[in-house]
Amino acid sequence: MDEIVYRILQKGDSSIYRKLLLEALLTEPDSYASSHMEESAKGELGFEKLLKAGDKNQIAYGAFKGNDLIALVCLGKEDRIKTSHRAELSSLFVQPAYRNLDIGYELVKRIIEYGFAQFPELESIRLNVIQRNLEARNLYYKLGFVIYGFEKEYLKTEKGYQDMVLMRLDKSTFKSLKA
Ligand SMILES: CC(C)(COP(=O)(O)OP(=O)(O)OC[C@H]1O[C@@H](n2cnc3c(N)ncnc32)[C@H](O)[C@@H]1OP(=O)(O)O)[C@@H](O)C(=O)NCCC(=O)NCCS
Repeated sequence: MDEIVYRILQKGDSSIYRKLLLEALLTEPDSYASSHMEESAKGELGFEKLLKAGDKNQIAYGAFKGNDLIALVCLGKEDRIKTSHRAELSSLFVQPAYRNLDIGYELVKRIIEYGFAQFPELESIRLNVIQRNLEARNLYYKLGFVIYGFEKEYLKTEKGYQDMVLMRLDKSTFKSLKA
């Protein structure tokens, strides 16, 4: 079996990024606020556009098996002066065949390490996760994320309302966990 290779996606990776993100929205509709129907109708996804433009504050990290992109996560650092100490983690997805192999954990760990190293002003990373998504919540806990808020009825889907958990990881916590 090929080794899993982790690397930052570049401008030229925008089509494989698009393909995997649309697969994530199609196969895991309950895990994301965006929907496959809306996003697939767009010529370019928001992050895809930023990736193509080479925006340094927007990072997508991928896990590859051979030439295939099998997992993905994104980090967007705020660029306004007063919020530039914050970044948002999003779009985490591991293809079902590759789950429970530590790939999600390794990918998120790598993008966090990269983010804190790349942006000295970055102090904390935030994310939103559906309350029922225990797999993802456990993964984030394992990396040191803590809950700082809760939003009831954040999403309204065919299954009813979904509550959202807001989590954050501070640079000092991440460093002390790694030490
Ligand atoms: C959540 C997801 C990314 C996990 O990826 P993964 O590669 O299978 O996870 P890992 O093997 O790296 O596991 C890391 C940790 O996550 C947690 N975890 C992963 N799968 C789990 C499961 N089925 N049940 C409970 N916890 C789980 C555990 O804490 C695990 O650590 P452990 O093995 O020491 O117990 C994957 O299930 C996925 O893509 N889900 C659909 C999309 C999604 O929910 N994205 C998150 C949106 S916020």
